[in-house]
Amino acid sequence: MPSALITGATAGIGAAFARRLAADGFSLVLVARDEKRLRSSAEELRLRYGVEAEVLPADLTAEDGLTAVEERLRGGIDLLVNNAGFGHPGAFLEVPVADELRMLKLHCEAVLRLTLAALPGMKERDRGAVINVASVAAFFTRGTYSASKAWVVNFSESAAAELAGSRVRVMALCPGFVRTEFHDRASMDTSGIPGFLWLSAGDVVDAAMRDLALGTWVSVPDLRYKAIVAVGRLIPSSVAGRISGRLGRR
Ligand SMILES: NC(=O)c1ccc[n+]([C@@H]2O[C@H](COP(=O)([O-])OP(=O)(O)OC[C@H]3O[C@@H](n4cnc5c(N)ncnc54)[C@H](OP(=O)(O)O)[C@@H]3O)[C@@H](O)[C@H]2O)c1
Repeated sequence: MPSALITGATAGIGAAFARRLAADGFSLVLVARDEKRLRSSAEELRLRYGVEAEVLPADLTAEDGLTAVEERLRGGIDLLVNNAGFGHPGAFLEVPVADELRMLKLHCEAVLRLTLAALPGMKERDRGAVINVASVAAFFTRGTYSASKAWVVNFSESAAAELAGSRVRVMALCPGFVRTEFHDRASMDTSGIPGFLWLSAGDVVDAAMRDLALGTWVSVPDLRYKAIVAVGRLIPSSVAGRISGRLGRR
């Protein structure tokens, strides 16, 4: 039975990954901070899909949490999904620096360290994959959030390039707006986001799994967002930044 470790597995995109991978027969290791919620998610997955679901409560912005998950990955995992993340409500200059650093720790340091903990075992077995959840925001200019997600995309592409020729895959997943707890947790006003731009977490995960099987390095689910990213790459960042500023954060 293949195994997968998912960070941020109790809500939104991470929970959708957990359901999809359980349905595909993976045994799971679920990571998040809220232990009670982790246990009830694991129980639900065990009952519904008949798979093993281990819980690993950890705050990935804290050294002990990161070390515990690194150690679990070194024990051998076939698929790592680096998904845990959060947003800020305010504009760049209004966000306290401690919050920005916490974001860099979760979006960059945790992704780096967990990927590096997982890859040696995968390389040795010549199979395995890492999905790093970035965002369409990576292609626009929107403070530390988009900068951290741009790092995730570039880092994942670099790792994928180094592993080309092996059977180990690394892919950045770049969703647009997805209906999850993300915006409420960040107290973001989403009233300016048109309804047609919202995606479901299940559809995002299905697209990600299709792209992973195809060997894609950067997965952008949904045609609407593929077009938005293509335009974002062509227009000057000063224009792209103003457009994304009107819509809010992803
Ligand atoms: N929703 C969107 O529109 C959207 C769009 C593009 C990209 N994304 C990206 O997708 C990923 C998942 O977002 P989501 O929308 O599914 O968010 P969500 O519904 O708010 O879920 C976040 C998950 O991450 C966990 N988490 C948060 N901080 C953590 C920490 N310090 N250590 C360990 N776990 C932590 C949460 O559980 P606990 O609170 O129990 O720790 C929860 O399971 C993020 O990387 C986000 O940037 C989201």
